Amino acid sequence: MAGSDNEKKIDLTLNVWRQKNRTAAGRFETYPARNISTDMSFLEMLDVVNESLILEGKEPIAFDHDCREGICGQCGVVINGDAHGPRRATTTCQLHMRSFNHGDVLTIEPWRATAFPVIKDLMVDRSAFDRIIASGGFVSVRTGNAPEANDLPVPKDDAELAMDAAACIGCGACVAACPNASAMLFVAAKAGHLGTLPQGDPERYRRATGMTDQMDAEGFGSCTNHGECEAACPKEIRLEFIARLNRDYLMASVRKDREAAAAGAV
Ligand code: SF4
Ligand code: FES
Repeated sequence: MAGSDNEKKIDLTLNVWRQKNRTAAGRFETYPARNISTDMSFLEMLDVVNESLILEGKEPIAFDHDCREGICGQCGVVINGDAHGPRRATTTCQLHMRSFNHGDVLTIEPWRATAFPVIKDLMVDRSAFDRIIASGGFVSVRTGNAPEANDLPVPKDDAELAMDAAACIGCGACVAACPNASAMLFVAAKAGHLGTLPQGDPERYRRATGMTDQMDAEGFGSCTNHGECEAACPKEIRLEFIARLNRDYLMASVRKDREAAAAGAV
């Protein structure tokens, strides 16, 4: 395939985290990445390096990916200290090598968080997110067939807010960027997406406590308002969703106290 008019070839040095499995000690290894087209994506560059490693009889670098279109949330590594690399609102798979210069030295690491143990090299186990979703990130009412769209009017502002929250792809960059390894932005996006729509409203408060409590149980840290999550998020999920989640969590506690008081009064 012909490159773009602005295509250049660059050489880089990669310091890559290598770790055989969850329990093995990891270490950085240095590899050259030569003659890399600036039109390549970051993952294509890793593919090229892996081809060289295989030809040399060495183990290729393990990294996660699926769609390579910024949709699935599977990719994601820390590049020179930035989750998903230096470009804002860009997943690792959508990052292009034109963001780098000839001669650059790149340090490439997996997400660092106790709740995301390393599986191998740059791949981490993000199943903690699945368990958070299972603890409340769904709508349990039977909706049957798709209803007629106008039967359930949704205010435009609510629809837009829910769509903004639904953009979260569950990549985990927010956790990797947070000094506390908190998953609050992810939880807030999922809870905010469902809690803003009428279909998800009946379970809004149960969802807020269920997902937040599961987040704590998984070993993620607490949010102390650093804002690094918002800066790292490739889908630009806003901190205001965390504020909404905090309000819902507080409201859930008040409702629980009221219900307990009412039950005691009978
Ligand atoms: S909130 Fe953003 S950074 Fe966190 S999981 Fe969702 S898309 Fe990824
Ligand atoms: S591989 Fe799917 S978002 Fe990057």
